[in-house]
Amino acid sequence: MKISIIYHSVGGNTKKVADIIAEGVKIKDDIEVKSMSIDELDEKFIEESKAVIFGCPTYHATFSWQMKKWFDTNKINFEGKLGSVFATENFLGGGADVAELSMIGHMLVMGMLIYSAGHTKKGPITHYGAVTIKDGDEWQQNRARILGQRVAEKSLEIFGA
Ligand SMILES: Cc1cc2nc3c(=O)[nH]c(=O)nc-3n(C[C@H](O)[C@H](O)[C@H](O)COP(=O)(O)O)c2cc1C
Repeated sequence: MKISIIYHSVGGNTKKVADIIAEGVKIKDDIEVKSMSIDELDEKFIEESKAVIFGCPTYHATFSWQMKKWFDTNKINFEGKLGSVFATENFLGGGADVAELSMIGHMLVMGMLIYSAGHTKKGPITHYGAVTIKDGDEWQQNRARILGQRVAEKSLEIFGA
């Protein structure tokens, strides 16, 4: 099974979190995961992916304009894929939740199945998705890693091996 992570990052914080999530996704040898910048996408890999996790920095309390542009101009078909999100921000309450909800809106329009990675599971709790301040402290990074793990587990549950 293939799982993609698609992110926008200028300063490297969001890239770092994307790579940490990728570590979490790799729960089995036969899961292939690629963490890709919106500028360097492997479209074939994404098309073959059962799940896609999107991440971006928070800009002015919402998602970055580059990520918005990417969603608005994307031609890849995401219909029926499992989708999850993460966002980075500088300040607690800086708008990462809004950034995540904005991406989720686009993902719903594209026909994706949205998964938050779980408030109902035992900790760490996620709400809309993983959030980190910059690239996160150890606890925040671990939550991001577990988001990746749970997306992989849910993908196996829904789509089979
Ligand atoms: C134009 C711009 C606007 C930003 N606006 C916010 C904001 O509203 N709230 C916040 O907490 N951080 C804000 N930030 C900080 C970034 O979200 C944060 O540093 C992020 O981790 C950068 O990700 P990157 O290193 O992957 O590019 C802003 C950064 C930039 C460049």
